Amino acid sequence: MKAQYGQVLLVDNGGFFPEQDDYQDAAWFLMDAMKVLGVDAVGVSEKELRYGRSFLLVNYKRSQAPLVCANLFERATKKTLVAPYVIKKVGTVTTGIFGLTSEKVDLGSSRDSLVIEDPATAAKRTVDELHKKGATVVVLLSMLGKVESEDLVTAVDGIDVVICGRNIPLLQKGRTIKATVACYGGEQGQYIGRTVVNLDPARKMTSGENDTYILGPEVGEKPEILTLVKSFEDSFNDKLRKKEKEKAVKVEQDRLNGGATTEQAVDHYLGAEFCQRCHKPEYDQWKTTKHSRAWQTLVDAKKDAVVECIGCHVVGYKQPGGFQTAEDASRLANVQCEVCHGMGTQHEAYPTQARRITAATCQKCHTQNNSPTFDFAVYQPHILHKAPDHMPELPKSQARERMLGAGK
Ligand code: HEC
Ligand code: HEC
Ligand code: HEC
Ligand code: HEC
Repeated sequence: MKAQYGQVLLVDNGGFFPEQDDYQDAAWFLMDAMKVLGVDAVGVSEKELRYGRSFLLVNYKRSQAPLVCANLFERATKKTLVAPYVIKKVGTVTTGIFGLTSEKVDLGSSRDSLVIEDPATAAKRTVDELHKKGATVVVLLSMLGKVESEDLVTAVDGIDVVICGRNIPLLQKGRTIKATVACYGGEQGQYIGRTVVNLDPARKMTSGENDTYILGPEVGEKPEILTLVKSFEDSFNDKLRKKEKEKAVKVEQDRLNGGATTEQAVDHYLGAEFCQRCHKPEYDQWKTTKHSRAWQTLVDAKKDAVVECIGCHVVGYKQPGGFQTAEDASRLANVQCEVCHGMGTQHEAYPTQARRITAATCQKCHTQNNSPTFDFAVYQPHILHKAPDHMPELPKSQARERMLGAGK
């Protein structure tokens, strides 16, 4: 289409988060992929809130995927959760694209923090604003359902194109409703719709038409995206397999222990790879500290199987979800985030715990015996994720001699 037409916009209607509970990885991967594909705007539905509001927001920020929704508001700030619209200039045409989500849905865990405004009110306001800002063509990404989308574009003037979403039966040929070209795409990323808009000299729509195509094998793959997808799938599948295995082992253990436990409800460690997804800068800084190499120290000293040595060089030794055996090394070796911040499953409580990382947190490991030169005021600046203005010099560590014995 890009080869055939000079001025092309690519949009996605939203509703793309997976159905499964533990498929967060697929959700953020899709957001990244849309960015790579150069999607110009992406709609939002309650599906995108299924892993919680912060998950969506963190990945929205991180991936910079161009999410739009004009009627989804934060209750506290009265601001829209994501951008209400985007304005794109392609060639000579300035197009405004906005999103609407249905009022009739359950927002799950975000129920209390978000509100959905009446779609028609939001549409009128947004269309006006887009026109004022110079958009001559207006596109609506609608998650309202078929009848509701059609009613809305009939009631609100100025919407040139609507992409209908939410359980929409596929219509290969779109329709014109009053003055709006409507697209009824299929599901599950198997189809792509093409809406061709004819413009007058003022760049306003005079007419348009829509067709939907199935993305069959004849369409071909985009090599760089295929590589990205394959490598994602491989690591994701590995992870799922591992999880399945862990579950099976757990069930077996529970059986041996005579009955099920409530492990899932018990707080546990998750590992730094999990935290990294949302806290990349902190992770990168942590990588530069000795904490991130503490396990290698034991391996080099051939002490990685010595029970007395492991505890302070890993995460949560012998605790729920913590380091149990060398098999856990890939995920839980080294002095990781949760050693200082607490179990990842208590993440919600971190903000209230902030600035409570005190000398006592460190002295669980930096004991008189193993870290005789430890002084919180001197050591702490060296592990802070943002370098402080003053960085006191660390004393020469005596740990090596102490722990490996003199002469080694
Ligand atoms: C899905 C994204 C996500 C993941 C994964 C995640 N965090 Fe966070 N974290 C956040 C967000 C968002 C905040 C900001 C506070 C909020 O709104 O809850 C935050 C806040 C924090 C804070 C600061 C609290 C404060 O306000 O001072 C710490 C510390 C933290 N996270 C550590 C971790 C650690 C350690 C892990 C891994 C166990 C982790 N996070 C995993 C998203 C995430
Ligand atoms: C789970 C145990 C553990 C906790 C908790 C811990 N550390 Fe450490 N720390 C270590 C180990 C082990 C090393 C040595 C790593 C290596 O080099 O193999 C280390 C090394 C260090 C070093 C580098 C010292 C040098 O030789 O240059 C600094 C600085 C440090 N820790 C600061 C802190 C501070 C500050 C805290 C508390 C906020 C803290 N650590 C909490 C285990 C811990
Ligand atoms: C009570 C916690 C604890 C235990 C147990 C422990 N370590 Fe450590 N280890 C530390 C801390 C803390 C440091 C960093 C101390 C410092 O630099 O001030 C450290 C540092 C080291 C270092 C120096 C790393 C470097 O940067 O050069 C070596 C080597 C080491 N440990 C090996 C061992 C061995 C071997 C054992 C078992 C005999 C062991 N540790 C048991 C906490 C512990
Ligand atoms: C040795 C202890 C230690 C480790 C390990 C550690 N942090 Fe921190 N982190 C701190 C301290 C200290 C602060 C400053 C705030 C405070 O005192 O609570 C902090 C603050 C933060 C904050 C709040 C933003 C900021 O910079 O103030 C985030 C987010 C965070 N850490 C994430 C992580 C993640 C993710 C990891 C692992 C990759 C990690 N931390 C590992 C000690 C640690």
